[in-house]
Amino acid sequence: MTASIRRIAISTGGGDAPGLNAVIRAVVVAAANRGWETVGIHDGFNGILLPERYPDGGVFQLTRDRVRGIAHLGGTILGTTNKGNPLHFPVRMADGTSGEIDRCDEILAFFARQQIDALVSIGGDGSLAIANSLHQRGLRVVSVPKTIDNDLDKTFTTFGFDSAVSFATECIDRLHSTAKSHQRVMVVEVMGRYAGWIALHAGIAGGAHAILIPEIPYDIGRIVDKIKTRDEEGRQHSIIVVAEGAWPAHGQRDVIEPAELGHEERLGGIGEHVAAELRKRIEKDVRVAVLGHLLRGGSPTAFDRLASLRFGTAAVRALEEGQTGVMVALAFPNVNYVALEEVAGRMKAVPLDGDTLQTGRDIGICFGD
Ligand code: F6P
Repeated sequence: MTASIRRIAISTGGGDAPGLNAVIRAVVVAAANRGWETVGIHDGFNGILLPERYPDGGVFQLTRDRVRGIAHLGGTILGTTNKGNPLHFPVRMADGTSGEIDRCDEILAFFARQQIDALVSIGGDGSLAIANSLHQRGLRVVSVPKTIDNDLDKTFTTFGFDSAVSFATECIDRLHSTAKSHQRVMVVEVMGRYAGWIALHAGIAGGAHAILIPEIPYDIGRIVDKIKTRDEEGRQHSIIVVAEGAWPAHGQRDVIEPAELGHEERLGGIGEHVAAELRKRIEKDVRVAVLGHLLRGGSPTAFDRLASLRFGTAAVRALEEGQTGVMVALAFPNVNYVALEEVAGRMKAVPLDGDTLQTGRDIGICFGD
């Protein structure tokens, strides 16, 4: 198997996450140390599917020099996109309507033409589905689990999550003093899509008084009770951390933009929604801070940097060992490999019986239930 690899490609897809550049560096250097060449594909697979957009043709050589000194940098030197999924590529049909087509076979043909032997696909749930499909059609693929949301199954954590949680925690820390000075309620909305990992971890670490996550539909009355109890006990400020995917038990999720051909729905607005409901029920000032994309930007924490470097080198080792159709995963204390079929299309939600959630309950945090 080893002898047959000469050239590999890397793609980064979906929303960016701190640590992408560290994975890229790790893959390129570990591959170079085995005598393999690495090429980078621009913007997910757009470099292959829309080459006319790129002066260099959409794919470029990744040398040791090109990846030197990038492990600590946020973003991705390859670019990324959450539009242009090759399994559902948006196109204008002959009759003028919009539609989606599967363009994965064009990627396989490109790999064959360019004599690229394998793909390291760095991404979240969408990228895992693409990687699984390419694998099933015969491409050698190893995936690396990326997302600040931590919602991928079979890995203890994705890279990017720790950086997002660390920054959100720092923001919550800062909001305590201003909320306390003004005796206000601060609602902090964080990303996370349909999972509450970021809200749960940052909320507990940052000392929030209530945390609302999608896994526990909330009753606004419970949060009001919590704020009133705190007031009566002389603690006149409250911090409410809300995951963007949280929703009221008798209502629905807030969506900024519905799903369209070529991209998924965009969540957001629940922070303002919760604040409006609180203002109807309590006399206090309520303010909202939406952390949004701040959680995706900036440098990876040391934990994420190390995880990314471990994931990247493990991906190269997997290819060297002849593995394909696997995702590199963190199974403390080691990195291991899980079949793409076992992870593609499966979301990891916060377990309601987990000790982290129980920790929050035991220290008096209200979860809106
Ligand atoms: O998956 C990461 C994530 O940051 C989600 O938490 C969020 O819902 C989504 O991406 C937003 O993506 P964008 O604004 O890039 O479309």
